[in-house]
Amino acid sequence: MGSVMRVIQISDTHISAEHAFFDRNTRAIKAWLLGQTCDLVIHTGDVSMDGAGAAADFEASGRWLADMPCETLCVPGNHDVGDLASIKAAQPVDDQRIAAWRSAIGPDYWVRDRAGWRLIGLDAMLLATGHPDEERQFDWLEQQLRTSLPVAIFLHKPLFVDHPDEGPRGYWTVLPEPRRRILDLMGRADVKLVASGHLHIHRQLRHGAIDYVWGPAASFVVGDSQEPLGGERKLGVVEHVFSVDGVTSRFIRPDGLEDLTIDPVLHILYPSPARDEQVA
Ligand SMILES: [Fe+2]
Ligand SMILES: [Fe+2]
Repeated sequence: MGSVMRVIQISDTHISAEHAFFDRNTRAIKAWLLGQTCDLVIHTGDVSMDGAGAAADFEASGRWLADMPCETLCVPGNHDVGDLASIKAAQPVDDQRIAAWRSAIGPDYWVRDRAGWRLIGLDAMLLATGHPDEERQFDWLEQQLRTSLPVAIFLHKPLFVDHPDEGPRGYWTVLPEPRRRILDLMGRADVKLVASGHLHIHRQLRHGAIDYVWGPAASFVVGDSQEPLGGERKLGVVEHVFSVDGVTSRFIRPDGLEDLTIDPVLHILYPSPARDEQVA
């Protein structure tokens, strides 16, 4: 009898100490989680609305993440630790932001071996920064992928939208150069699943032997400020069931969610026009 592991992926809660626009949704997600039996909850980033700028948002995030029904692991998003200076992020990833995440939320990359699987959380926000931790994470990833276990990877930004060989997708995905390095390393292992957040869209796409799952947001969807990327702009969670037979991923829609778009409150959340395109 093989063991079965139930992992619930949540994403993009955007918890704010200051703004309550999306609280009804994050409250509905939390209420649903509290009724679940699970082995792990994995949060694929943008835990906070502005942890990259305000310590109070990490404190509020910590309160939201408390009392989960099972161990909860998070990877950071751009709203948590900043984004790339090369795509004109108003809040570039730096030592201070990475340290604030680690002390408030936990490690930004991590590994867990459970139920015959290796689960790897990656800090997508380090990629293409040139920060010393970027190379440290690559070295570490190379080691973690030297395994005979089947592997699932969780990170904030998707590796690609349509195809692994596509060009840069700006704000929406990992840039082509680090994407290629990750895909090459992945090729040495038995990777079955790559699960991401950031787009506030649910989509499941099989490419080769790997399922690429976009986890839906728990807070808001993006309207016209997001180009069409495919998938469904719908709030919810994803259940991943791991067994000896593989992994099965399923969208779940907890009760009480309303697919609010960020657009009507964008000017309040992001008064600076420089950030108008950096909403997810
Ligand atoms: Fe994001
Ligand atoms: Fe987000």
